[in-house]
Amino acid sequence: MPSPNKRVYFGSCAFNVYDEVYEPAEDSFLLAENLGVKEGEQVLDLGTGCGVLGVLAAKKGGHVVAVDFSPYAIRCAKENSAFNGVRGKIEFLQASLFTALSSNAVFDLILFNAPYLPSEEDEAATWIGRTWAGGASGRDVVDRFISQAPSHLKPNGRVLLMQSTLTGVEETIHKFSEQSFNAAVKASQKLPFFETLTLIEASAATEKETI
Ligand SMILES: C[S@@+](CC[C@H](N)C(=O)[O-])C[C@H]1O[C@@H](n2cnc3c(N)ncnc32)[C@H](O)[C@@H]1O
Repeated sequence: MPSPNKRVYFGSCAFNVYDEVYEPAEDSFLLAENLGVKEGEQVLDLGTGCGVLGVLAAKKGGHVVAVDFSPYAIRCAKENSAFNGVRGKIEFLQASLFTALSSNAVFDLILFNAPYLPSEEDEAATWIGRTWAGGASGRDVVDRFISQAPSHLKPNGRVLLMQSTLTGVEETIHKFSEQSFNAAVKASQKLPFFETLTLIEASAATEKETI
């Protein structure tokens, strides 16, 4: 493996980041601060990147499946899981969204720091571009995720989805409600230039709530 171009720290964990892999940023850290994983929970870390969220979830006692469609990300995340002593607690899959999971695979928690920024077509032509490019509206991957995530959650499971105000937070909440899911903003962080990072938590509405 070539030398990493960066080393990033969160708490007591360190993560090597290679070319073509998303370097953990404010969005990664806002999600990391709000993980809330409990011992023994089944966690799906979608778009694992360098593995930051999957490793932190495993450190908290979660059994983690980490997915990314980038071979660079999977290689980097595997290395970081070993580096942080949790290689045996994470299964890695190189695939797009839920395609590598069986239809009955269900989780307590699904994490996704999605590619959510509005972008031109050519910006998604590289692996690094695909880490953040969400198509013209920024919603290409987010909308596919929302339509598929509910069928991979346990009845009391929850989703933590990171996006930004540039991509329509109300639309996300509405799309979850169309799936009979309650969604709300769990945390947010203002960035320069009129953008606020928004962490959305969603879970199935109970029967009482849907009447
Ligand atoms: C914003 S980065 C987040 C990386 C890491 N989770 C973090 O928080 O630092 C988004 C990640 O999702 C991956 N990704 C984008 N579209 C995907 C898809 N359709 N299926 C699987 N992974 C995808 C990218 O390769 C990238 O690693």
